[in-house]
Amino acid sequence: MNQASLDDRDGVIWLDGKLVPWREAKLHVLTHSLHYGNAVFEGERVYGGHVFKINEHSTRLLRSAELLGYQLPFSAEELNRATREVVARNNVQTGYVRPIAWRGSEVIGVSARGTKPHVAVTAFPWPSYFSEEARKKGLRLKTAAWRRPGPQSAPAEAKAAGMYIICTMSRDQANAEGYDDALMLDWRGQVAEATGANFFMVSGGELHTPTPDCFLDGITRQTVLDLARKRDIRVVERAMFPEELGEASEMFLTGTAAEVTPIGELDGRKYTVGPVTQELMAAYSQLVSGLVRT
Ligand SMILES: Cc1ncc(COP(=O)(O)O)c(C=O)c1O
Repeated sequence: MNQASLDDRDGVIWLDGKLVPWREAKLHVLTHSLHYGNAVFEGERVYGGHVFKINEHSTRLLRSAELLGYQLPFSAEELNRATREVVARNNVQTGYVRPIAWRGSEVIGVSARGTKPHVAVTAFPWPSYFSEEARKKGLRLKTAAWRRPGPQSAPAEAKAAGMYIICTMSRDQANAEGYDDALMLDWRGQVAEATGANFFMVSGGELHTPTPDCFLDGITRQTVLDLARKRDIRVVERAMFPEELGEASEMFLTGTAAEVTPIGELDGRKYTVGPVTQELMAAYSQLVSGLVRT
């Protein structure tokens, strides 16, 4: 995409049920979610003009808001329709959709009671999340200092803005030190995920991934697990510890934005982009590009 600020583009944004000119989709500074972190959002990818797993994303947006204690005034079907309309009206063929919901500016204070829920859906062209070189050779990762909070400390299943504070800080820190991303441990010191993607490793020909009990069970994660099972690759979901990562023969990340991206280095230790990763990368790209018109 071009270098202009994201708010300065042609096109339309779906805002609370209506299409508005892109530059006019604005919020007031007293918007509750801006102060208290309770916006919820989605990231969806568009392949050949079609949104992959659209209904799963719309459903998760509704669920995220519910987990934070508010209801969106639209159904999953209405959100799906809005998303398709925005993608078509902005003529996005290869790109990204960002739906977001937030609580309005009716009250100030910690309590959000009395605020009105709002929803917007934007869509724009977007290439790869990581560089082409990183996708070929594997990402360079470093373990983050921040840890994912336990499920009793934060609504881990919600894709909520406030949950991303430590992700953004970890990613910025990793990038500032020359790494592509950070791997986050959880509050127990177990392996959790990257700052915007789930984590997998291959060991003894099996695919291992942490049990998602304090981070998002990503839609891509579930898709890749399914692809692996269909290819008779044994899948193990379990508690994983950083000390055992040295035994891995391959590692990769999954996410809507990241897709399936190999890891080439973690904390100075090198990994190759091996056959299981290559097979699942190919299978995922075949799946997303083979979408039929609905
Ligand atoms: C923190 C985090 N974990 C995992 C994921 C992967 O989720 P999904 O595959 O549903 O995009 C994402 C991306 O949304 C994320 O931001």
